[in-house]
Amino acid sequence: MSAVTGPSRSDGPVVLGIETSCDETGVGIVAGSRLLANEVASSVDEHARFGGVVPEVASRAHLEAMLPAVDRACRTAGVTLTDIDAVAVTSGPGLVGALLVGVAAAKALALGIDRPLFGVNHLAAHVAVDTLEHGPLPEPAIALLVSGGHSSLLRADDLTAGVMPLGSTIDDAAGEAFDKVARVLGLPFPGGPHIDRVAADGDADAIAFPRGLTSGRDMQRHRYDFSFSGLKTAVARWVAATQQAGVDVPVSTVAASFQEAVSDVLSRKAVLACTETGVDTLVLGGGVAANSRLRAMTEHRCAEAGIRVRVPRPGLCTDNGAMVAALGSLLVTAGVAPSPASLGADSAMEVEQVSVAPSTDPAGTPA
Ligand code: KG4
Ligand code: ZN
Repeated sequence: MSAVTGPSRSDGPVVLGIETSCDETGVGIVAGSRLLANEVASSVDEHARFGGVVPEVASRAHLEAMLPAVDRACRTAGVTLTDIDAVAVTSGPGLVGALLVGVAAAKALALGIDRPLFGVNHLAAHVAVDTLEHGPLPEPAIALLVSGGHSSLLRADDLTAGVMPLGSTIDDAAGEAFDKVARVLGLPFPGGPHIDRVAADGDADAIAFPRGLTSGRDMQRHRYDFSFSGLKTAVARWVAATQQAGVDVPVSTVAASFQEAVSDVLSRKAVLACTETGVDTLVLGGGVAANSRLRAMTEHRCAEAGIRVRVPRPGLCTDNGAMVAALGSLLVTAGVAPSPASLGADSAMEVEQVSVAPSTDPAGTPA
C-alpha cells in the first residue's frame, strides 16, 4: 500500500485494528473513517495442499506475522504507537487458537501504550468496513454478510449497539460452498476467487442448478434463510455423471452456473428483506461479496427496486485489519465502553454481539 498523509486530530480517533480469526494476519489503521494502512499477511499457501485452513498452522503463522505487520502498518500510516488512541481486535467468531494470537497481541499493545482495548465481532467488522469507502452507514440498513463461515441477512439500526439477524444459512456458508465446489472442479483453495475467474468464460444459464429454500413452502418457513448444501451436492453429482459418461467436464460452464445459482438466491433474498422491512440501504460484506457476479446481480436488482447498495472494494471484503479498526473507530466515537483487560477469544461469538463490553466478557470480571 502506498504511503498516505498521517492523521490529523480532526479526522477522529486513530484506531489500530488486529484481525486473526482465520488465515489472514491483518493490521489496519484508521483515523476516524479515513483508511491509513491495511497490511495483510496470508498463510493461505501453507494450507492449500490440505484443501482447507489447518488451525495450528494458522496460529503459528499469525505469531510470526504479527509484529512485522504492526510495524509495516505504522510506517505506512505515518504514525508511531503513541499516536494511537485505541486498539481494536477480533475477539470472535473464528478459530480459537488463531483468535488468541490477535487478542494477546492487542492486549499487550493496549497495555503498553496505555490505551483502551475493544474486542469486536468479526462479522460486524465486515459490515463496518464499508464506512471507510462510503461514509456513515444509513440507519437502518440491511447487511448481507457472506463469508467462508457465515451467510446471514442482518438488520443494523445502530451498528455500534448491535445487529438483528433476519436469517442465515441452515447448512453450508456461501464461501464454504464456493470452496467445496472448486475442489470438485479441481480448482485450488480457496475456491471462490478461482470460480469467479473461470466462470467469466462459461455459460451461466447452461445448467439449472437448484436454488435452495426458494420454493413456496420453504419461503414461508425460511424466508430469509439460505441453504447451499443441496446445491453443492447437485454440482458434485452433475460432475460425476459427466465423468462417468466419458465426457470432459466443462469447468467454466459448471462454475458459471453454480455462481449464478448462489448469486441469484443471495441477491433475491437480500432485496426481499429490504423491501419487506422498508429499509432502503443494503450493505454487502464478507469474502464472497468480492464475487463479481454477486456484486453485479445485486446492484442490478437493487437499482430496479430503488434500493441503495453499498459494497466495499474486493480487497476490503476479504478478511483484513482495516475492518476491525473501522468498527473500533465507530465504537470509540459512539462512546461505547472498552473491553476489560481480561478480554478473551470467543470462537462462537453470536452475531448479535458487536463488541465485548465489561459486563459481557465471558472470561473475567468487569474492568
Ligand atoms: O470473509 P473471508 O475472507 O473469511 C471468512 O471470514 O470466512 O471469506 C473467505 C471466503 C472463502 O470461502 C473464499 O472462497 C470466498 O470468501 N471468496 C470468494 C471470492 N473471494 C473470496 N467467493 C466468491 N468469489 C470471490 N471472488
Ligand atoms: Zn471474514
